[in-house]
Amino acid sequence: ESVAFPDHEARVAAAQKLKIGIYFATWWALNVVFNIYNKKVLNAFPYPWLTSTLSLAAGSLIMLVSWAARVTAAPKTDLEFWKALAPVAVAHTIGHVAATVSMSKVAVSFTHIIKSGEPAFSVLVSRFVLGERFPVPVYLSLVPIIGGCALAALTELNFDMTGSYLPTCGNFGAFIHSFDDPSFMGAMISNLAFVFRNSFSKRGMKVTSVSGMNYYACLSVLSLLILLPFAIGVEGPQVWAAGWREAISQIGPHFVWWVAAQSVFYHLYNQVSYMSLDEISPLTFSIGNTMKRISVIVSSVIVFHTPVRPSNALGAAIAILGTFLYSQAKQ
Ligand code: 3PG
Repeated sequence: ESVAFPDHEARVAAAQKLKIGIYFATWWALNVVFNIYNKKVLNAFPYPWLTSTLSLAAGSLIMLVSWAARVTAAPKTDLEFWKALAPVAVAHTIGHVAATVSMSKVAVSFTHIIKSGEPAFSVLVSRFVLGERFPVPVYLSLVPIIGGCALAALTELNFDMTGSYLPTCGNFGAFIHSFDDPSFMGAMISNLAFVFRNSFSKRGMKVTSVSGMNYYACLSVLSLLILLPFAIGVEGPQVWAAGWREAISQIGPHFVWWVAAQSVFYHLYNQVSYMSLDEISPLTFSIGNTMKRISVIVSSVIVFHTPVRPSNALGAAIAILGTFLYSQAKQ
């Protein structure tokens, strides 16, 4: 049939590309809103363990209500499903908290520089843990993607901080020091955790045929249960109450809407990202996630008035060229 109807096949392929394109655009746009409100909240209320918990709680609530009201059909799951989901939820929880702790400490763009390395973690884990290899041009295309994105995020503001990390080859002391900096380590841990999460999620969705949307919903519920006791242990209700009063007096009663926005948008962007992951490889997902950071950087520069240099724009152009090369190398 494919030989007899080549036009039909081409049309199906084009429709699939369009669908993924729409998912990616939605994912990135929702993520921009999340990043802005998340940072506004963390600036006034520096308790990343609670804000991470609230993000998962909002997602769980939205999905439990949608299932109960039959807006979305609830997935058919059994004990085996939840057992298999447990390690994925641990990875999601660790990756989420680690990134949020990192973002609570520094400019948003700094965390995103480090997080732009996710595709490198993806190929390393694929190669050394899962035993999958890629053609050499695929590895090479990651260089402009990661390098360009890092250059796009590198601003005057965080140059001082990254300055001690990036040219570390000749400076062993600075290299060692970067490992006890929570903003750097948080973002690195998040990269590693999310690569495992993505790979095992992909496998889980395939085996169980639970859709991307429902798979992420279950992940939220389980991650919430895992995170809550730790959040109480690390920060706790007393600290939260005092911090909350402080934030309300500083910002005003509408602060609660900022918290609601960061929580709801966290769920929405992740849900759409999982709808993409259901259709693409974990490596393509990580590359989409890295390119997403350029839109985050551009918007956070506008909202938080971070100074920009021409090298940032050059970096973005290089990264975009890199993804084009990746898509060619994959074929
Ligand atoms: C999180 O809190 O999970 C991170 O902010 C998100 O990281 P991501 O940009 O890789 O989704």
